[in-house]
Amino acid sequence: MKNIIVLVSGGGTNLQRIIDCIENGEISNAQVSLVVADRQCFGLDRAKNHNIENHLIPRGKTFSTALKQLLPEKTDLIVLAGFLSILSKEFCETFKGKIINIHPALLPKFGGKGMWGHHVHEAVLAAEEKESGATVHYVTPGIDEGEIFLQKSFSISENETVESLAQKIHEIEFEILPKAINLILKKI
Ligand code: GRF
Repeated sequence: MKNIIVLVSGGGTNLQRIIDCIENGEISNAQVSLVVADRQCFGLDRAKNHNIENHLIPRGKTFSTALKQLLPEKTDLIVLAGFLSILSKEFCETFKGKIINIHPALLPKFGGKGMWGHHVHEAVLAAEEKESGATVHYVTPGIDEGEIFLQKSFSISENETVESLAQKIHEIEFEILPKAINLILKKI
């Protein structure tokens, strides 16, 4: 049984999707063994609702050290699912190849500091991009800079809004995040 640890800062619909996929068998031989948030958020409630061990470690310089102490000895995969803190260089190096993030745009475009949530979609629309999408990538110390693992795009329509982009991208995330988790877990 593979242990997945999920880090959240917000509503946690991607966390919910992972939980649902484990329950319905789309992700096999795995469990979410721990959910950690860096602030009070609904993602934590989702973990509680499913009796998953959950902790709040307030954001700040000691987050990564505190997180490391909570991790099970057998930590197979750490998934950043709408997680807004930056993990330390040391933490990223210790868990190299075992941490992934889901980003609501087609990296390497529209990533980096400040590029989260509606800011991403606003920037995409302002740049008059022809397409957007979502990216699953490995996490390194640089923000949104790690190797891209999986990506899916769609064409932006003429009357696209921040809200419509957000909705379409969440649908794509719900598709590619479980897919990426399955592919990675099979490799390790
Ligand atoms: C997602 O759009 C993800 O790409 C980004 O944060 C959002 C989290 O949404 N990193 P949710 O909390 O899973 O609903």
